[in-house]
Amino acid sequence: MAHRWTNTLTRQDITSEASFLNRRQLMAGLAAGVGLAGVGGMARAQEALEPNSYEDITQYNNYYEFGTGKGDPAANAGSLTTSPWTVKIDGLVDKPGDYAMADIMDAMTLEERIYRFRCVEAWSMVIPWNGFELADLLAMAGVQDGAKYVAFETALRPDEMPGVRFPVLDWPYVEGLRLDEAMHPLTIMATGIYGKPIPNQNGAPMRLVVPWKYGFKSIKSVVRITLTDSEPPTSWNKSNAREYGFYSNVNPEVSHPRWSQASERMVGGGLFAKRQPTLMFNGYEEEVASLYKGMDLKANF
Ligand code: MTE
Repeated sequence: MAHRWTNTLTRQDITSEASFLNRRQLMAGLAAGVGLAGVGGMARAQEALEPNSYEDITQYNNYYEFGTGKGDPAANAGSLTTSPWTVKIDGLVDKPGDYAMADIMDAMTLEERIYRFRCVEAWSMVIPWNGFELADLLAMAGVQDGAKYVAFETALRPDEMPGVRFPVLDWPYVEGLRLDEAMHPLTIMATGIYGKPIPNQNGAPMRLVVPWKYGFKSIKSVVRITLTDSEPPTSWNKSNAREYGFYSNVNPEVSHPRWSQASERMVGGGLFAKRQPTLMFNGYEEEVASLYKGMDLKANF
């Protein structure tokens, strides 16, 4: 790992976080040989973000292993044992193995990232995550040359997860990213919210967060990360390929077959709050659009 930032950001430091991200974007941009277009946009976007309450973020959830109601995860996820926890990292890596969560936490540097979070169901929040870049975790395992994709898997524990009795999805929950998406500096593994350990209902002890994609890509309680050379299967795509694609980038111009994605309801906005327009790539267009240059985003939804 070439870089190691020690940074303890608070919500009062949104401006400094923006400049911090600018600096990383600058480094990433220089490394990739791309220009600096958009760095100012990121700063503006970050400054405007007002996080949802801890209550909103931890009481209104999707975690179908604990039930399909929005309050079910908060009510039922207490039964999940999250310590000790082991993450298997395997496939096309130099150092495959079972990594203890405690060792991962020792090796990684935590940062706060205040991100928009947009569910495919057209609700949204702003969440102050604590976590580390997925790229740093992958570097620990050593990504091999042939790797093109990263596959993720959630724990499957019928004794602790009342929802997996029902065949809502083909358990365990699985997700995937292209390697360049996984290595992008905005992609993090979250281990906390508001400076506290991440609650079980939000995906303890460690869940993926990809802020420019619909929330279902952000897989919870990860037990396995596999580097592969082919596109991995993903849970919602397996369940309904017509409605949920592999990419699932937030895109106000590409409707879900059953509803528009042009606007969203901000959770906690109150009964009479107006819907707000959904932003291309959830507001991270300047940072990530180059990943999809030349791709038909309607065909690759
Ligand atoms: N991960 C697992 N294992 N199981 C799930 O049901 N739901 C997804 C995603 N990750 C889900 C999951 C969906 S649809 C969303 S919108 C987000 O988690 C919700 O995250 P949150 O409850 O922390 O807001």
